[in-house]
Amino acid sequence: MTQPPNSARQPVPANGQVAAGARAVVMEGCSLKKNYGRGEKILHVLSDASLCLRKGEMVAIVAPSGAGKSTLLHLLAALDTPTSGTVYFANKAIETNDDTALAAFRNRAVGFLWQRHQLLPDFTATENVAMPLLLRGDDFTSALGMARKWLAEVGLEHRVDHRAGELSGGEQQRVAIARALVTGPSVLLADEPTGDLDEQNAWAVFELLERLHRTHGLTSLIATHNLALAARCDRILGLEHGVLRTREAAALASEAPGGEAR
Ligand SMILES: Nc1ncnc2c1ncn2[C@@H]1O[C@H](COP(=O)(O)OP(=O)(O)OP(=O)(O)O)[C@@H](O)[C@H]1O
Ligand SMILES: [Mg+2]
Repeated sequence: MTQPPNSARQPVPANGQVAAGARAVVMEGCSLKKNYGRGEKILHVLSDASLCLRKGEMVAIVAPSGAGKSTLLHLLAALDTPTSGTVYFANKAIETNDDTALAAFRNRAVGFLWQRHQLLPDFTATENVAMPLLLRGDDFTSALGMARKWLAEVGLEHRVDHRAGELSGGEQQRVAIARALVTGPSVLLADEPTGDLDEQNAWAVFELLERLHRTHGLTSLIATHNLALAARCDRILGLEHGVLRTREAAALASEAPGGEAR
């Protein structure tokens, strides 16, 4: 059943307190609009996309290819800027950050899982995971130590010295997850984290994400085509004509080919 669009930024008292029972708002996107190109070639991807992520939520975005899922995640992670609209993190508009604060936001506040994991194939798993720590100036030895700890946490302690290009698809995605979380972010933005995996690996990676989400107190937003995985999330958003709408898992399942959740 389609419901009304998500309301724009939900009011949060200036003192940061929220109503009893309501969890604190971690990240918001308010009336996000994104166009690519201009003139006759302009492409309107997001027209009025709003969402509010509360602490500890795991939210799925399900929408067809080309609907704008990656575009939206890139805006939320400050990897791209909206044509209009605002992203708030901890109630602060990220656009008000200077370059240093923006770099810190990208490095420390948000963990990003790319649609194509974008590992450096000639570097080892450990070096790939340590990269965000080295970029922010951490000491080399401690960065490698932290990377190994994270590789063990994603079940790859036996692959730490393998080059990323030598790993299987599922192993590479685990390395990418470790790299996304090694800086200790509070928000995980995952763009099709299981898109390139077979069903068995997709479930294994999703269950890993669920465990890390829980044990590290993350707030997670996951773009996926996989309706069965989306149904495991706390709620599902659809993206239609550039607007986010709350979706029911059952309604989505009936839209899937064959009428069943995949
Ligand atoms: N940098 C860009 N310049 C121009 N057009 C772009 C750019 N990035 C994305 N687009 C276009 O915006 C639309 C939305 O792309 P986006 O990658 O956000 O979709 P998606 O929902 O993530 O799709 P998929 O499920 O295939 O990953 C597409 O038509 C795409 O061609
Ligand atoms: Mg995409």
